[in-house]
Amino acid sequence: MKLFIDSANIDEIRAAHEMGVIAGVTTNPTLVAKEGRPFQDVLRDIIDIVDGPISAEVISTDAEGMIREGEQLAALSKNIVIKIPMTVEGLKAVKALTKKKIRTNVTLIFSANQALLAARAGATYVSPFIGRLDDVSHNGLELIGTIAEIFARHGIDTEIIAASVRHPLHVTEAARLGAHIATVPYKVIEQMVKHPLTDIGLEKFLADWEKARAAQQA
Ligand code: E4P
Repeated sequence: MKLFIDSANIDEIRAAHEMGVIAGVTTNPTLVAKEGRPFQDVLRDIIDIVDGPISAEVISTDAEGMIREGEQLAALSKNIVIKIPMTVEGLKAVKALTKKKIRTNVTLIFSANQALLAARAGATYVSPFIGRLDDVSHNGLELIGTIAEIFARHGIDTEIIAASVRHPLHVTEAARLGAHIATVPYKVIEQMVKHPLTDIGLEKFLADWEKARAAQQA
């Protein structure tokens, strides 16, 4: 399973990129709004850092508007993937953009049937939201497993991006259940790095090294 970063913050994206762990980026209108900068400026900065799929979401709710926005955003870079909400109009836009060879990521997926419809419309990626399902007492991870099973059984090559990731266990389980990608907030990437035994172990290695060095010098 590959990892994307779910962020529009340039410092976070740069830091994750420098670690060498991310293969792409997903943004959404909420994440971009937090940055307080024009959308296309944010995207241009991301394009300069990451050479991989970068999801940019449309704001229009009608297919015609989504297609127009999608074409404008896709013109920024070959790496831009158009994020389209899971609606009837969204499916029409996915069909049209796919015909124009523009890649799409269908977002706000909360059921297996939505994922199947998006895939059949031609989506490159589907983004089931794990955390938001957990928030309403539905099992988000179970949905990842179900979609993975359906796509594998029917030879569907649309890739599953586990989204709305809230903690490291979401990432581990999404990988186990067959997601192709997890898009992970920077905070969760940091949490994934950490293990108390790593910190304790490193502290002891360095202390032992210092002790031996002091003994040699005495
Ligand atoms: C997916 O692409 C979305 O940007 C994101 O994962 C939503 O996560 P949230 O539910 O934490 O807002």
